[in-house]
Amino acid sequence: MCGIIGYIGHQNCVPIILDGLQRLEYRGYDSAGIALIEDGKFFGLKQAGKVSELAAALKASGVSHTSCLGIGHTRWATHGEPNDINAHPHYDCREEIAVIHNGIVENFGSIKTRLTRQGHTFRSNTDTEVLAHLIEEMYAKSHDLCAAVRLALAEVEGTYGLVVISVHEPDKIIVARKGSPLLIGVGDGENFVASDASAIVDHTRQVVYLADGEVAELTASGFRTMTIDDVAVEKEVEEVTFELAQIERGGYEHFMLKEIHEQPETIRNGMRGRLQVEEAEVVLGGLRDVKEKMLNARRFIITACGTSWHAGLVGEYMLEQIAKIPVEVEYASEFRYRNPPIMPDDVVLCISQSGETADTLAAMREAKRKGATVLGIVNVVGSSIARESQGGVYIHAGPEIGVASTKAFTSQLTVLALITIMMARAKGMSKEDARVLTRELACVPDKVEHLLQNTDLVRTVAEEFKDTSNFLYLGRGANFPVALEGALKLKEISYIHAEGYPAAEMKHGPIALIDEHMPVVVVVPKDAIYEKVLSNIQEVRARKGRVIAIANEDDTEIDKLAEFVIRVPRTYSYFGPIINVIPLQLLAYSIAVARGCNVDQPRNLAKSVTVE
Ligand code: G6P
Repeated sequence: MCGIIGYIGHQNCVPIILDGLQRLEYRGYDSAGIALIEDGKFFGLKQAGKVSELAAALKASGVSHTSCLGIGHTRWATHGEPNDINAHPHYDCREEIAVIHNGIVENFGSIKTRLTRQGHTFRSNTDTEVLAHLIEEMYAKSHDLCAAVRLALAEVEGTYGLVVISVHEPDKIIVARKGSPLLIGVGDGENFVASDASAIVDHTRQVVYLADGEVAELTASGFRTMTIDDVAVEKEVEEVTFELAQIERGGYEHFMLKEIHEQPETIRNGMRGRLQVEEAEVVLGGLRDVKEKMLNARRFIITACGTSWHAGLVGEYMLEQIAKIPVEVEYASEFRYRNPPIMPDDVVLCISQSGETADTLAAMREAKRKGATVLGIVNVVGSSIARESQGGVYIHAGPEIGVASTKAFTSQLTVLALITIMMARAKGMSKEDARVLTRELACVPDKVEHLLQNTDLVRTVAEEFKDTSNFLYLGRGANFPVALEGALKLKEISYIHAEGYPAAEMKHGPIALIDEHMPVVVVVPKDAIYEKVLSNIQEVRARKGRVIAIANEDDTEIDKLAEFVIRVPRTYSYFGPIINVIPLQLLAYSIAVARGCNVDQPRNLAKSVTVE
């Protein structure tokens, strides 16, 4: 979602801010803006479009800006269309206070009505602008920027990652957080604020993660943190461990392609030090303290959004079939408002790449409030879900920049497989039986590597179908969620309408859509329900649908039924989704490229959705 960066120190902040915004652009990107304080006055520029366009406009303005204090923002519209006026920063009436904000001010309507009555003039349709005017009101009373921000926020309902600067106090940046990620980058004679460490990791690796309800005042030489009620808070400085190279494209045309090809390594990283193949054991340090609770759990509830939710659906098959644990999988956005009965012996597993998805975080808090044990399966270290959960497992996929999630999904599945084996063993699965699983799981990265060595056919299929307007994806069992994920990938980045369906359920509706123009992707590995899926393929063929099969390398029957057969290595059926999804990621990618779409930054989507 929206990206935030701010700088105060001794260097020219403009290149630091523009570079940071570029790195944040993947999170949300319909408009961008910057505000600097120069010679005691604001210079601001904001407009719809990409950060590169903002940079060009800044250059074209002809002024050489050398300010040492500035803030920048990339926006993903929630309130008000993405145009120049609605872009951040927003200012108060006299243009003496500038704010950038991620999140939503839920009571902005009533605040705006009141302030308008009091004589404030609003320029935009955003909820954010009320913050600038509210702070203006409070500053008139307190004559202290930090106090004014705190007083203003006391009236605000909703979420914020907020950054405020003012010409009244041109030597500080005030920041505040509730529900939207924000961190301070600690430098030497300089300090940063950002919504994501990737924006500042070029300059410092020392960061302080703000918690909800915390406010900080940054100067060039230091910072102090407090609660919104002005109680001082001591914060720990933490070290960011990822490398800059991990958030660069490294020779690939797109981040998504790079991330698809990283999968042998990222899957391996998820297992490293955890999977003891010959001992047939799994060691997950982050679950040690809650393992007893997990063993005694009545059921697991998995909650997540988007691709992570699909991972949860595969996890349901793994945990139920292998570890014999009853599992329910819930959309976090539904779960949080459904008021579901939750018992203290429920274990709630929250899956999230970013660890910041607002709905997943809220679902987790709700489950925790009701007494369940809440655990996280998260990629971003130090993220909100990681910090607020009672235990969990990092997937160690490294930064994922492409908006369409790929490597995070296969790493989530890997971790779910690890948890499954750990639980199965603890519940009495024999070492011999478990060893079959650990050996097979250990082979998955090599199989993925092998698969990625020859992707020509996927490109041929993409060329053949790039102009179609509909796609159907079918799968059964643990590969039903793979069909859902394949369809999601395609619609996200190519804007082709695609539906994922359980193969046998097709005849209850989607079959009406099938004719000689309809491509139908069927995930059909040689497992216990292989023959059943072949029957479903026959149903498609009988209506002249064009079948693209994702099938095992040793499958000789499938050629007679499918127009295209994309081969995948065979593995244990419940680990199959880790491999089978990869050609679907590549197919979506290749079609999107063939259609000239912006693969890494698809329209309307955001990488990390921090509003509900
Ligand atoms: C957004 C992204 C999806 C992602 C979903 C959940 O919609 O575009 O790719 O799957 O959020 O994100 P999370 O970070 O919680 O996994």
